[in-house]
Amino acid sequence: MKQEIHFVTGKGGVGKSVIAAALALKKSREGKKVLLVELGDQSFFKDFFELPSVGFQPTSIRENLSVALWTGDACLQEYARYLIKVESLAKLFFENAVMRAFINVAPALPELAILGKVTSGPRKHGPPLPFDCLIVDAFATGHFIALLEAPKGMAQAVQFGPMGEQSRSIDACIRNEDLCKYHIVTLPEELPVKEATELVQRLKAEFSISSELILNKMVQTNIPEASLKEVQSEDSDLGKFAAYIEHQLSHQAEMREKAQKTTKQILSVPLFFETKPWSLVEKIAEVLK
Ligand SMILES: Nc1ncnc2c1ncn2[C@@H]1O[C@H](COP(=O)(O)OP(=O)(O)OP(=O)(O)O)[C@@H](O)[C@H]1O
Ligand SMILES: [Mg+2]
Repeated sequence: MKQEIHFVTGKGGVGKSVIAAALALKKSREGKKVLLVELGDQSFFKDFFELPSVGFQPTSIRENLSVALWTGDACLQEYARYLIKVESLAKLFFENAVMRAFINVAPALPELAILGKVTSGPRKHGPPLPFDCLIVDAFATGHFIALLEAPKGMAQAVQFGPMGEQSRSIDACIRNEDLCKYHIVTLPEELPVKEATELVQRLKAEFSISSELILNKMVQTNIPEASLKEVQSEDSDLGKFAAYIEHQLSHQAEMREKAQKTTKQILSVPLFFETKPWSLVEKIAEVLK
């Protein structure tokens, strides 16, 4: 089965989760069976979409769309149970030499287990994950890099046996541009754009990964510039608001230009004035490519 995997990352609070949900909604509407995966031990979507519960096993929330919450520990436990069923593999896995090397890189084990599960479909290894598309609402920038580095680190420490083999196959999978897509979300502001463009460059340099940069919460207006200028001269709240909007429009255009120096793959997502979660996600889904 050919499974698409999308990772959504970026600085804290920039809109990773809602953009991941919008992408998941869009793919599900194209008829794909989609799993929206949250990483960590707290579910954002449970509260956001007012769901009864979100756990390790996928919960269906809409047609073709399920959500799951994965921790490194839960992925590791599930994988260990799967391995132990294949007894000879388990024996090799726990052999002393392998185990010793393995303990040295053990801090990266939860990350490896998460990526192992995320990429289990295309690698045809592990418990079945019957989805056409996985959208991962991933960790914020620093932790995300650590996540991607885990398989390579493990493959270097444990070169032989199934552990080395699996780590190499996970590493190859996350670098495979046909299988995995990367979306880096940012706000059109100085520091977030700097951090996001640095991440784009780092993914390229370290992993040969191309990523899409999403400028989120871009202020958009149909009011002509001349009208904005005209109102600005008024000494009123409306005048001040018009001045603020004009400043924001020129600042975000500057930020977009800055980002364009690093990548041509840029998508702007407007700031929507929506209070209903699904309406916001639907609006964002409409602007995603
Ligand atoms: N384009 C948008 N228009 C309007 N509101 C938005 C937009 N994008 C995100 N938001 C709102 O901004 C807030 C932050 O978004 P979100 O929770 O998705 O960010 P995050 O990057 O996942 O945060 P965290 O790092 O805490 O996981 C939410 O209240 C969300 O509804
Ligand atoms: Mg989030």
